Amino acid sequence: MRVMVTGGAGFIGANFVHRTLATRPDVHIVVLDKMTYAANAQSLAPVADRIELVEGDIADTALVDSLAANTDLVVHFAAESHNDNSLADPTSFVHTNLVGTFSLLEAVRTHGVRYHHISTDEVYGDLELDDPDRFTETTAYNPSSPYSATKAGSDLLVRAWVRSFGVQATISNCSNNYGPYQHIEKFIPRQITNVLSGIRPKLYGHGKNVRDWIHVHDHNDAVWTIIDKGQIGETYLIGADGEADNRTVIETILELTGQPTDAFDFVTDRPGHDLRYAIDSTRLRTELGWQPQFLDFRTGLADTIDWYRNNQNWWQPLKAATENKYATTEKVVE
Ligand code: NAD
Ligand code: TYD
Repeated sequence: MRVMVTGGAGFIGANFVHRTLATRPDVHIVVLDKMTYAANAQSLAPVADRIELVEGDIADTALVDSLAANTDLVVHFAAESHNDNSLADPTSFVHTNLVGTFSLLEAVRTHGVRYHHISTDEVYGDLELDDPDRFTETTAYNPSSPYSATKAGSDLLVRAWVRSFGVQATISNCSNNYGPYQHIEKFIPRQITNVLSGIRPKLYGHGKNVRDWIHVHDHNDAVWTIIDKGQIGETYLIGADGEADNRTVIETILELTGQPTDAFDFVTDRPGHDLRYAIDSTRLRTELGWQPQFLDFRTGLADTIDWYRNNQNWWQPLKAATENKYATTEKVVE
């Protein structure tokens, strides 16, 4: 089976490549990645001789068409993925998340290729902290940021290509991932690498915002479950009942690294900051039989801290530039 993994040099895509090579000997992987600031060539270095890495843009229709002609399955991870960047400049989000997805859909349509679309729970907007309901496959789309709006638009393109052109596609919307190889601009690795660098962790606003954390391996196992057993044209929500507020996550990281739990700064809030995400993944569990394996968030965080401690060469070169970028907008408020 020849599988094209878009965005395979990014966080979730690189983990998908490693997990697939470890568990599926029949799969040949072609990674298509533009190698933006979010990619890290080191993430794929250990498996460089077992995959093909094509450096290119998913919006390059001629390139994508020629690759799709020789592919059985496209798993589409590539995206501009960081909300804060989308607030500073949405241009690349529209290009990659919308135009790039359109280009892939046209290629899989032309060549009759099976397609799995990776998306986010952020397409549903946010929930109140005390709302007993969680997102399900029938929750109305209500995205808040340029990131989530472009992801929502890409999901709708997929649905239209299924209905209008018979494209063989499935969609998954997952909650916040954590684990190895995540860019240090994102919340958990930013705070871990702050502590490891002697910088105080940074908490946006009041810090009561809730995210529903899932280990990246659980996400990728769910993706394969949907590819293997999902119904064409359907959407599946992926989540592992991992709700935690941001302040608690920072305090846990500080505790696990032997620091005082109040050794963090409150900083200016993100404009339009979504309050809470929470996923009800009943459909995926009951219809397709998936179960998360990494249920202890504290243990998962401790393992992730160990990974960043043991892989400083992977992130150290990015740290100063990442923090300098935040410093242009972020102010300590207490
Ligand atoms: P990431 O930013 O770590 O990686 C994105 C990858 O896509 C990078 O390697 C980048 O170089 C590549 N890319 C960007 N633009 C491209 C283009 N035009 N052409 C080819 N490649 C391009 O992102 P991630 O966190 O691994 O997220 C992967 C996917 O999962 C995204 O679609 C995202 O919306 C979705 N998702 C992420 C999370 C999360 O918590 N990180 C949760 C749910 C869904
Ligand atoms: P992030 O990792 O950017 O993911 P998303 O915006 O997709 O949920 O942020 C996760 C949460 O952490 C979000 O509520 C914003 C917050 N946050 C901080 O409090 N401090 C930080 O330094 C960052 C990057 C995020």
